[in-house]
Amino acid sequence: MKNILVVGSTGQIGSELTMKLRREIPQSTVVAGYIPGAEPKGALLESGPSAIADVRDAAGLAEIVTRYKIDTIYNLAALLSAVAERKPLLAWDIQMNGLLNILEIAREKGVAVFTPSSIGSFGPETPHVGTPQDTIQRPRSMYGVTKVATELLSDYYFHKYGVDTRSVRFPGLISYTTLPGGGTTDYAVEVYYSAVKGEEFTCPIAPGTYMDMMYMPDALHAAIMLMEADPSRLKHRNSFNIASMSFEPEQIFAKIREYIPSLQVRYEVDPVRQAIATSWPDSMDDSCAREEWDWKPTYDMDSMTVDMIKNLRLKLGAQ
Ligand code: SER
Repeated sequence: MKNILVVGSTGQIGSELTMKLRREIPQSTVVAGYIPGAEPKGALLESGPSAIADVRDAAGLAEIVTRYKIDTIYNLAALLSAVAERKPLLAWDIQMNGLLNILEIAREKGVAVFTPSSIGSFGPETPHVGTPQDTIQRPRSMYGVTKVATELLSDYYFHKYGVDTRSVRFPGLISYTTLPGGGTTDYAVEVYYSAVKGEEFTCPIAPGTYMDMMYMPDALHAAIMLMEADPSRLKHRNSFNIASMSFEPEQIFAKIREYIPSLQVRYEVDPVRQAIATSWPDSMDDSCAREEWDWKPTYDMDSMTVDMIKNLRLKLGAQ
């Protein structure tokens, strides 16, 4: 029996994680937290309770935690990297003041908290190939600054107050359900939409730029698996490197062309996204996650591409 609050339940990760938690933990109550303007709809709305959960409103959050006897919060509210560069103060407010509100409630009420970190927590001085679990983290983007601070603050609340904080560093996430908004890795999602619609794709990231990527089912599995993991085995907490595939634009385009040979691409490199992408790892070493909680991905580039194209064709009504 678990009572879970998903903050950011209508976002790219939240929309799928909320449904998966409701399906897989049937005796649980999973509250879909949202902000006005991003209300849950359809199955997300109908399959369980929902509540306004703005991370900047500590009293409102505390009220939900009390009302539903919440024991676990998945804190997915965040501005992604490119949009955070345009709105750095808002990114700080949501990612840092919001996290502090959640951690304070967690401390008072004994709630476990998952707040994702990212490949964005690394920077130019980080070793880019086989990026170790414990290494230099000096990001230059506001998104990265908030992600490093998220890791530190979450570990602080664990060591100082015993709050059960855990997290992973997500790679760029690829999914067909909800579009990401304003991330550096979004191109790897958007190209599938263009391919299935038969439209030319304009790529904002230069050829040769490697980044870690992951198919959403593996990312969701990782989040739930880590929150269910035996705490006595965890030497790390915030945050674990997790990895499944790394590619540069030409490689993912070539993979899609195996199934949709007509895909057309032109490059129009966005300097903001490109600078961020260049500073991020090419490929992370996730051996600590494998050792401490048996992390193992299921999808590779090929099986992801087959699944993405099949589901996008259904979604977009294309053949
Ligand atoms: N996908 C995120 C972004 O590109 C990184 O975690 O901003």
